[in-house]
Amino acid sequence: MTQIVITVGIMSSISGVLALMLTLANQYIANYGECTITINQDKEFVVEGGSTLLSTLNEQELFLPSACGGKGTCGLCKCAIHEGAGPVLPTETSFLTEEDKEKNIRLSCQVKVKSDMQLGIPEDLLNARKYEAVVESIKELTDTIRFLRIKITDNQEIDFIPGQYVQLLAPPYPGNPEEVFRAYSLASSSSEKDSIELIIGYVEEGLVTTYVHQFLEEGDQVSFNGPFGDFYLQKDSDTEIVLIAVGTGLAPIRSILYQMKEESIDRKTTFFFGAKTEKDLVLADEMREFEEILPNFSYKPVLSRLKDDDPWEGDRGRVTDSIEKYIDDAENKEAYLCGSPVMIESAVEKLKEKGFTDEVIFYDEFG
Ligand SMILES: Cc1cc2nc3c(=O)[nH]c(=O)nc-3n(C[C@H](O)[C@H](O)[C@H](O)COP(=O)(O)OP(=O)(O)OC[C@H]3O[C@@H](n4cnc5c(N)ncnc54)[C@H](O)[C@@H]3O)c2cc1C
Ligand code: FES
Repeated sequence: MTQIVITVGIMSSISGVLALMLTLANQYIANYGECTITINQDKEFVVEGGSTLLSTLNEQELFLPSACGGKGTCGLCKCAIHEGAGPVLPTETSFLTEEDKEKNIRLSCQVKVKSDMQLGIPEDLLNARKYEAVVESIKELTDTIRFLRIKITDNQEIDFIPGQYVQLLAPPYPGNPEEVFRAYSLASSSSEKDSIELIIGYVEEGLVTTYVHQFLEEGDQVSFNGPFGDFYLQKDSDTEIVLIAVGTGLAPIRSILYQMKEESIDRKTTFFFGAKTEKDLVLADEMREFEEILPNFSYKPVLSRLKDDDPWEGDRGRVTDSIEKYIDDAENKEAYLCGSPVMIESAVEKLKEKGFTDEVIFYDEFG
């Protein structure tokens, strides 16, 4: 017994010393010094090496999309690194297609700045900015979904396409020592340039949603960056529109509906919105108002967790059941989906059974 305790003690000490040596090595030996980063063979700046490319760019107020905050799980932070990236890392491979590899595309949150780098970043991403703002109001839409109205306070205006998202920063708070950011779809009208609205659901033990639901109060300062994303109504199209969302997936759809109102888009549009019970039908009154305002818009909520004797007279089941019930075929239609990856996967499968192709299905996964 004593021998086991001594052996465990020795092993623990060796591990401790090795960990210390690694930390010191990282601090003193792995000193990459100053590195020059060049973007699109044009913009150039000098940084201290050693951090990930994503956070290095953030420090320069250059924001690439990121839903996971740099954990290497969303695959959104891609950019071309033509020089200075080193070999592709195992943490990147599942996100990179063969075409990505040919174009030197890498995950910026995984690649560290260790030498001079030549980057290729699409110009529209370089327009994403950081905004300082204040929380003007908070409404509890349900026990787990909050509606935030946020006013920009640094004299900037936000210019976005309905359907896009921003990254909200949560500062350190009790239980979370680090600043983290996550993606949230803009739910407001893009004609409002000095304020944004977000609809944020609580995720148990989620870092940013815990901050939003348990710490954030009206009057608090917040920052966000953006806009990002390519989920928006296709330009120059006059097809029928099928909108499908569950839960907070309603956020970008709401912004798109404002766009349709303001730009007098009168394409036939059906919005299938899935929720558990009637109290989870967030902003249902607004959706019914859109039915009054938009001549060819209809809102079709569907509830999945009703008791047999519940007096609800609308559709019952999942949004996929509504696709089955209301959509005959894919002719002259585009589908826009937003919400959990599980819903999107099964809805896309159902749409494909109806003849929809990848070219006419657009979605944002909130996972
Ligand atoms: C483009 C885009 C737009 C988005 N827009 C919105 C939006 O408008 N409103 C909104 O509420 N969310 C939205 N999200 C999701 C959001 O970015 C966060 O992923 C989510 O709020 C969880 O963040 P967190 O920091 O609280 O949880 P994390 O700390 O990131 O996660 C904690 C744990 O919960 C799991 N988890 C993460 N998200 C979920 C989830 N949704 N359900 C169940 N488990 C989960 C994680 O795998 C992890 O195990 C969007 C995501 C993307 C990619
Ligand atoms: S930020 Fe999510 S994978 Fe890089």
